[in-house]
Amino acid sequence: MVMDVMAAAARIEEGGGRVIHMEVGQPAAAPPASAIAAARAALLTGRLGYTETLGIAPLRARISRHYRESYGLDVDPQRVAVTTGSSAAFTLAFLTLFESGDRIAVALPGYPPYRHILSALGCQPVMIETSEVTRWAITPEMLIAEHRKAPLKGVLIASPANPTGTMMPASALRDLLAAAESEGIKFISDEIYHGLDYAFPAETAAKLSDTALVINSFSKYFCMTGWRIGWMVLPVALIRSVDRLQGNLAISVPALSQIAALAAFDGRAEMEAVKHGYEENRNVLLTGLPKIGFEKILPVDGAFYLYADVSRFCGDSHEFAKRILAETHVAVTPGLDFDPLKGSRFIRLCYAGARAEMQEAVERMGAWLGK
Ligand SMILES: Cc1ncc(COP(=O)(O)O)c(C=O)c1O
Repeated sequence: MVMDVMAAAARIEEGGGRVIHMEVGQPAAAPPASAIAAARAALLTGRLGYTETLGIAPLRARISRHYRESYGLDVDPQRVAVTTGSSAAFTLAFLTLFESGDRIAVALPGYPPYRHILSALGCQPVMIETSEVTRWAITPEMLIAEHRKAPLKGVLIASPANPTGTMMPASALRDLLAAAESEGIKFISDEIYHGLDYAFPAETAAKLSDTALVINSFSKYFCMTGWRIGWMVLPVALIRSVDRLQGNLAISVPALSQIAALAAFDGRAEMEAVKHGYEENRNVLLTGLPKIGFEKILPVDGAFYLYADVSRFCGDSHEFAKRILAETHVAVTPGLDFDPLKGSRFIRLCYAGARAEMQEAVERMGAWLGK
């Protein structure tokens, strides 16, 4: 449905209209200058070949250092696998952990490719409906109840999450992980929005367990969506199988992106400034949206998303998103993309754009709603 919104937005722009884009979940900022400079220098050498299957050694070592610096955790670089974005990491993780027919729990609302990739691989995504009572997270009780219906082989969580931006406190993550492990349910933690936490610091599942599989990416914090590079922290027992899978599926991750990603860690000060901008955008929306009638907003803890209940305006968020775009030229994503059950009540707004645009979006929508 977001594709429909994007196509309609493109038509408005072709006609000379100026659309404020809050539908696409990617940073508007550029990657760190250090990453661009390293990539430029690498291009000038003229040759970029295949690399080691799990990534160039300096990058795996640098990612390991990142865990020490950011979480106080020692991770053996051998456990780090560099991947083509976190997207490829999902496929590798599912292929290495699960067999066709396995049941894997994912939260609703949630990032749709989890369930789509699982289905494409012949697995059965088990959608667990979450609510405000549990801060939009799967709880141990929910997991075990589903496991008793028919055994689960895995559970995948994200914190901060897409589309809600809500985070699991460390204690909630620890309890869910313990429940999963006590039942032999494999645990996958999507940590792609780590670094973009405002309410409280995000905890990595790698710190709580050696058997959890952690997925991360350079796409969001480092603003490198188009470079298609991410990583996994693997349980030791899985290193060999992921090595073989990636070797067969992709040979290696693009060398240029690996070189840029390694240098990106030198640009953290720039990325912290970008993060500060998101934080200001978040404040603009948290102050402005309730004044124009968007009173029910889910906890906006991290990432750059805000998930608003719009049921007081309309029974169908797809229709509502179309009308907002047509009337105000603000593009938002209908919740049905993330939640086939209750998504018709919600829209997602991405606040990774310019601050002036956030203010303008609130004003345009407020004028339309008569506020
Ligand atoms: C929660 C979540 N996980 C993973 C991804 C995939 O990102 P990438 O493949 O660029 O790392 C996204 C992209 O929006 C996302 O929102």
